[in-house]
Amino acid sequence: MTFSVQLVSGVATDTGADALIVGVFANQVADSDALLGLEDALGGGLLSHLKASEFEGKLEQQIDVPTFGRVKSRRLLVVGLGPKAELDAGRVRSVLASAVRSALSPTTKSIALALPEPLPALRVVGEAAVLGAYRFSRYFTGDRKPKAELQKISVVVSGKVSTEHKKQLDLGVAVGQAVCIARDAVNEPPNELYPETLAHIAQRIAKDNGFKVKVLDKKGILAAGMHLHYAVGQGSANEPRFIHLSYVPKKKKKKVVFVGKGLTFDSGGLCIKPAAGMGEMKSDMAGAAAVLGLMAAVGATKPDIELHVIVGAAENMPDGAAYRPADIFPSLDGKTVEIVNTDAEGRLVLADALAYAVKLKPDVIVDAATLTGAALVALGKTCSAYYATDEKLATTLEAAAREAGELFWRMPLLDELAEQLKSDVADLKHTGDRWGGSITAALFLREFVGKVPWVHCDIAGPVLAERARGAYPKGGTGHAVLTFLHFVERLAAG
Ligand code: BES
Ligand code: MN
Ligand code: ZN
Repeated sequence: MTFSVQLVSGVATDTGADALIVGVFANQVADSDALLGLEDALGGGLLSHLKASEFEGKLEQQIDVPTFGRVKSRRLLVVGLGPKAELDAGRVRSVLASAVRSALSPTTKSIALALPEPLPALRVVGEAAVLGAYRFSRYFTGDRKPKAELQKISVVVSGKVSTEHKKQLDLGVAVGQAVCIARDAVNEPPNELYPETLAHIAQRIAKDNGFKVKVLDKKGILAAGMHLHYAVGQGSANEPRFIHLSYVPKKKKKKVVFVGKGLTFDSGGLCIKPAAGMGEMKSDMAGAAAVLGLMAAVGATKPDIELHVIVGAAENMPDGAAYRPADIFPSLDGKTVEIVNTDAEGRLVLADALAYAVKLKPDVIVDAATLTGAALVALGKTCSAYYATDEKLATTLEAAAREAGELFWRMPLLDELAEQLKSDVADLKHTGDRWGGSITAALFLREFVGKVPWVHCDIAGPVLAERARGAYPKGGTGHAVLTFLHFVERLAAG
């Protein structure tokens, strides 16, 4: 991130920012101090223009008003915050991030964001500023490259600014940047982001935050007994990696392990996928991206929770050395697995990673994986499926998702479907029939978590967006980072 986010007390027009964003509560257009100030500065006409355009401050309403050189800002963007009494963290994040995204043209160098009283939590404002200003432009050259880099976002408030306010804003900026680590990782092409370079991202997060990190290469994975993970990666020239990051604070109320699926590319292997849409499988490491983003965020929020993040990274390719249907491998916990379909690779990598997580003797295990197309069929592209073996954890996850403004819907672990995972030649086979595919995948994973309370998130839908919406940009969304962060904060709170 090349820009700074600052908190200033005063009048929005004085910042001289290229683009000015003014947030207005529903039905308070005529009472907005910022708009009244602008009405004067522009020489009149603003309020009547807003009225004629039916701008009423409804949630997500946006109107672009030209300033004709009468104030320094070239653009004025008035955005609706909805009813004052209904403004919560999710709304603030979504409305402000999408306003910043609209304000950011290829030539914008500075943006000012004027907020009415009562001020929303500044942590969320900081998050929104960073989330909205996100662009993935590193592979553009020439005309396609933005003409200017954004340098500054000023958050303008009318009241006094305290150091606590500034601290909260900075915290939000750090959290937003952590989400952007996840977005970047998903957006990176698979020739640049492969297991080894995914491990580099983890090592960088560890270095920046003083976390411990352990990385096993192909040989190390085999030596550790993670035969399922090894099998998935054995056909790829880009060799697999196993990644373990840990944050151990002095005060720790619980020990939690997050496990992420890190398939940097999933061609399907020998059971190869159709060509149409195969490129989307660069996002098959979004579970890994989410838990790594979480770790980066925790570096800023420092909760009283011992946190371990585990990533099973591999590339699933067809090859003479690739694993095949009918192969049998032992998992880290000893159970043997018959391979049915090499495209159901994620659950194999996760099985070993979950078995490893159990050995850490945690209070809770959470995993995140772009695991099944069936989850998309069930819930669409905007909502994750989650499964929980513990009612309290389910409630906590729901509350965390609400706070994060992200969609998670609980699915049942239907025991009667477990029959489908019986193999004639090994302890288990790893896929069932077509129906209930997200559930049978979850039931397979459940075999590897022992008695540890567990939440499984099938995030296949929302990690990659076809269009920008709310706090999510087009492309990699960073989905689940904020939900997991709030989940951890709730566990730390009691
Ligand atoms: N990575 C895919 C799941 C996926 C599909 C994610 C579409 C995002 C969008 C996973 O590895 C996979 O291929 N799953 C198969 C499982 C099947 C072979 C049992 C699926 O869902 O079709
Ligand atoms: Mn697959
Ligand atoms: Zn996959």
